[in-house]
Amino acid sequence: MGENNFFEIREFKSLPSTNLYLKENYDEFRDFTVVIADAQTNGYGRKGREWNSSKGGLWFSFIVSTDDPFFWISCASVSIVDLFPELKIKWPNDIYFQNFKVAGILSEKIKDKIIVGVGLNVNNNINDELKDKAISLTNIYKKKFSTKNLLNRILSKIYDNSQNYENIFEKWRNYSIILGKKLTIKVSDKIYQGKVVDLLNTGELVLSDSNHKRKILYGDIIRWEEI
Ligand code: BTN
Repeated sequence: MGENNFFEIREFKSLPSTNLYLKENYDEFRDFTVVIADAQTNGYGRKGREWNSSKGGLWFSFIVSTDDPFFWISCASVSIVDLFPELKIKWPNDIYFQNFKVAGILSEKIKDKIIVGVGLNVNNNINDELKDKAISLTNIYKKKFSTKNLLNRILSKIYDNSQNYENIFEKWRNYSIILGKKLTIKVSDKIYQGKVVDLLNTGELVLSDSNHKRKILYGDIIRWEEI
């Protein structure tokens, strides 16, 4: 890592959720405190969805004062793809291998800080009901990884990437699995279809159909296809 003591790591065998732990204790920790748990008993993802967090996966969160959450979320996602070039980013910041999700990132705001939680399937078992949607690094690379070693490599990348603002968004676009593709997306209760023509530093995707261009900040991707 460029700065040895940039991050301060707190390790736990088990926690309900590393995000929740930082959220509940945010005033005790300095910026760039990292909380990692071998397992989470109540891990959650975006929209409060359950996040399967058994032993063998990498479940961690860090806290930072910022007015630009999207910068830090993207910094985390591009740092993972820097290490594993076979992976791609599914807007906004899910990490995919082909059609399977490998990692998810959840940010939560508390006062002037955000907590960025990273869930990366490493050696953990993927449940039968998730097998058609999720995959682990072990499944992809056919080997086991040291989660502690992986954490250090990811944090080191996050530090390096965070030094260059533009570079993060450049990589975020380059690593995108949807840019240039035909996209079907649900926004509130409407479904839109079109070509993804751009991804903006604000986090918006630009969807173009025969009539006009639409900027979308929040939405659930239904599918993406080659044009
Ligand atoms: C998502 O794709 O919905 C985001 C998943 C985020 C999961 C991580 S695991 C570490 C941290 N603690 C949690 O409870 N959630 C995040």
